[in-house]
Amino acid sequence: MVICIIGSGNVGGALAQNLIKAGHQVLVGARFPLSQKSINLATKIGEDRFTSIGFAVKQSEVVILTIPPDACLRVIQELGPIDNKTIIDASNSIRSTPEGFPTVYHAVKSICKTEKIVKCFNTTGFENMLNPNYNGIGLDMFCAGNDNASKTLAAQLARDIGFETCYDFGGEDKVQLLEELAKCWINLAIVQGHGRNLGLKLLKR
Ligand SMILES: NC(=O)c1ccc[n+]([C@@H]2O[C@H](COP(=O)([O-])OP(=O)(O)OC[C@H]3O[C@@H](n4cnc5c(N)ncnc54)[C@H](OP(=O)(O)O)[C@@H]3O)[C@@H](O)[C@H]2O)c1
Repeated sequence: MVICIIGSGNVGGALAQNLIKAGHQVLVGARFPLSQKSINLATKIGEDRFTSIGFAVKQSEVVILTIPPDACLRVIQELGPIDNKTIIDASNSIRSTPEGFPTVYHAVKSICKTEKIVKCFNTTGFENMLNPNYNGIGLDMFCAGNDNASKTLAAQLARDIGFETCYDFGGEDKVQLLEELAKCWINLAIVQGHGRNLGLKLLKR
């Protein structure tokens, strides 16, 4: 599957490396000239994977947004309607918001005129996207959105990179709940000082 990752920072870099390891074809939609972050990632995954955002999106079946929400807004406004691709929103509207929308999910749905959008990969630190394995146990991932096929796809990608289960949080009305869950992780890891090497796992009986 050809996957376009827009953004080459902490999250984009972690997902790119791990999805390549899982056997996917990954293109990184980046800004040119390449930033130091992009150059650092290019030394790990190859510069030939870097291309313009527009070209990377055109070539791909799945687009993962890993740039700040205000930047997402500008990028998706430029892209316009997106045919038949699943878009995964991995962003959190914490430091910036897409103006006029509560989250990037909502902005993409409205501007790209698509239902094939899913919130996923936003509820944990990028280190866990690089390695979700804790002493042989895979962390869990969570997704939300209206389109079941897009959620199935995002869940498969989460499992491909080592998350044990990707729980479906529900429809679009649960997207902001996932952003709140991200804030819970940030609170524990950073504000309360437990460190970024912690992750979420559901236990059942
Ligand atoms: N950090 C985490 O652990 C984590 C976890 C889950 C979710 N998130 C969310 O994921 C998003 C990205 O976080 P991050 O930590 O990966 O950020 P980051 O390391 O700062 O990377 C941001 C990326 O966005 C790109 N970018 C910024 N403005 C852009 C624009 N106008 N057009 C195109 N690309 C642009 C940057 O490109 P250049 O390199 O060219 O500057 C960079 O590649 C945020 O919404 C964050 O809340 C973060």
